[in-house]
Amino acid sequence: MLILPENADHAGILGRMKITLVRGDITQQATDVVVNAANSSLLGGGGVDGAIHRHGGPEILAECRQLRASRYGKGLPTGQAVATTAGKLPARWVIHTVGPVHSVKEDRSGLLASCYRESLRVADELGARSVAFPAISTGVYRWPMEDAARIVLGTVRSADTRIDDVTFVLFDVEAYQTFERVLRGLGPTDEEIEAVLAARPSEHWEKLFALADALTDADLEVTWEGGPEPGEEGVSEMPHAIYSDALDAVLSVLVGLQVIVPFDWSAWHRATPLFPDGNGLDQAPVADAARLATTFIRAERFSEGTIQEAIQSGALHAILRRLRHWYQNERQ
Ligand code: APR
Repeated sequence: MLILPENADHAGILGRMKITLVRGDITQQATDVVVNAANSSLLGGGGVDGAIHRHGGPEILAECRQLRASRYGKGLPTGQAVATTAGKLPARWVIHTVGPVHSVKEDRSGLLASCYRESLRVADELGARSVAFPAISTGVYRWPMEDAARIVLGTVRSADTRIDDVTFVLFDVEAYQTFERVLRGLGPTDEEIEAVLAARPSEHWEKLFALADALTDADLEVTWEGGPEPGEEGVSEMPHAIYSDALDAVLSVLVGLQVIVPFDWSAWHRATPLFPDGNGLDQAPVADAARLATTFIRAERFSEGTIQEAIQSGALHAILRRLRHWYQNERQ
């Protein structure tokens, strides 16, 4: 769960990794590793890069020069990471990574995610246990803060790493508040959602799949009631969708199985390729089946017929299929 202890600015204890947001200066962080938002030359710059070299001293640049003279003759490619000494900084190492410049024409989110994933991999190799990240690419490289926060928080908290503590160091209030809003909106991690699903009684899961198997085409038909009569003037009640008792039974068992996730589903569904037809869900974590089900069930309150859209797009069947595969083959 997202536990917010009083003593931290904002710490999300998400499963095994502790994620903390702080407002401050990356050069002051006494973590094992601080990550530098470098450029490919590795020879310094402004922003985070300038601050780290200024406060860390010439040793850092000297090691960067050695790296350029050896492994990185052509410079450090975007999305990759390399470690040097931290010089006079309170940290033990600096991991330099090169973020992508934001582009509206090209989706470079994979490269931004790679900066964090590769930095954690290098930190693991060093034996580090704590890492401080700046908001890479959100300065000179112009990446919009909210989009960056969604990409990097999702990447870091699902990363396969031994790092226990990750701190995001945000330089100004707007950045901090953006990261805080996104972190809260991400809700529980995949592991936490799966733990809730696994704790539900088997008979409830068996009931869900029996009801789902019994659904006929007629059960999936949706009728509409209400709305203006032909020729009727003035305000009238909005039309509303009528679902079959059989489908209602499936939906209520889904809700009873706590497949409903407390997270910002409206932001998630805009960013996820799984919406609206559930295409790719078979290869996604079972938690995404719960997130997609939550999105449709919650959205129905705001827009009648969303569940009808899930039926027609195939998303409802994709969700049930993914839950069944997890129940029969993956559940611990
Ligand atoms: N501590 C923490 N965060 C900082 C600090 C600092 N001392 N200084 C700046 N920031 C914030 C910025 O406000 C921004 O949100 O870090 C984020 C990243 O900004 P940049 O440092 O400009 O990094 P980036 O956008 O990745 O651009 C990298 O800028 O400095 C050059 O050599 C660097 O060419 C590279 C480019």
